[in-house]
Amino acid sequence: MSQPVLRTERLRLVPLSAGHLEHEVEMSADPEVMRYLGGVRTREQSAEALRRLLPGTRPGLGCWAGFLEAEFAGYWALRPAEAPKDAELGYRLLRKHWRKGLAKEGSLELLRYGFREVGLDRIFAGTAAGNKASLATMASIGLRHIRDFVSDDPDYFAPGDDRHAVEYALTRDEWLARP
Ligand SMILES: CC(C)(COP(=O)(O)OP(=O)(O)OC[C@H]1O[C@@H](n2cnc3c(N)ncnc32)[C@H](O)[C@@H]1OP(=O)(O)O)[C@@H](O)C(=O)NCCC(=O)NCCS
Repeated sequence: MSQPVLRTERLRLVPLSAGHLEHEVEMSADPEVMRYLGGVRTREQSAEALRRLLPGTRPGLGCWAGFLEAEFAGYWALRPAEAPKDAELGYRLLRKHWRKGLAKEGSLELLRYGFREVGLDRIFAGTAAGNKASLATMASIGLRHIRDFVSDDPDYFAPGDDRHAVEYALTRDEWLARP
């Protein structure tokens, strides 16, 4: 199963490809976007980051570039996790598209796709405890708080940060039972 193109009311989500490099470079140059993602990246670092995000090990999972008509808005991801039927949800949008409900809209579609089409049992997301926008997005799509922890992954924190992190998650049964 390869990653399909997904659609929502406003978004067209297409599997991320090497052709999206200019979008990766633009998003990764904004310190606000990258505040909880390890800081801004050079063009070379962006190219390397893009390579790591390209389709990998688990059929159907990966990263999508989201477009409003022809305009790039950001990334949404369902990445493979240790447990074979788990996946990690992620999102990152250009700053000009924040607070329009787009992270939520694309993420709800990834929950539907992940549970219904891929057959996942559990979708989780993690972020720095200070990343209010990401935490609010997790809560708004129905993920529930699982745990607070101190992360050993430097990618989500600025140097010197206390690395306090939060995990949210949703199981397939909880998703099916939603109102
Ligand atoms: C996190 C991010 C993707 C949210 O995108 P967004 O499109 O602005 O989010 P939405 O407009 O869909 O909002 C979703 C919910 O979060 C809330 N929210 C969004 N940003 C918020 C903020 N800064 N403070 C408080 N609540 C916020 C919205 O009100 C909405 O809640 P509601 O449905 O209950 O009204 C965006 O801020 C971003 O790209 N940040 C930088 C990258 C990043 O940190 N990604 C996460 C890494 S773990």
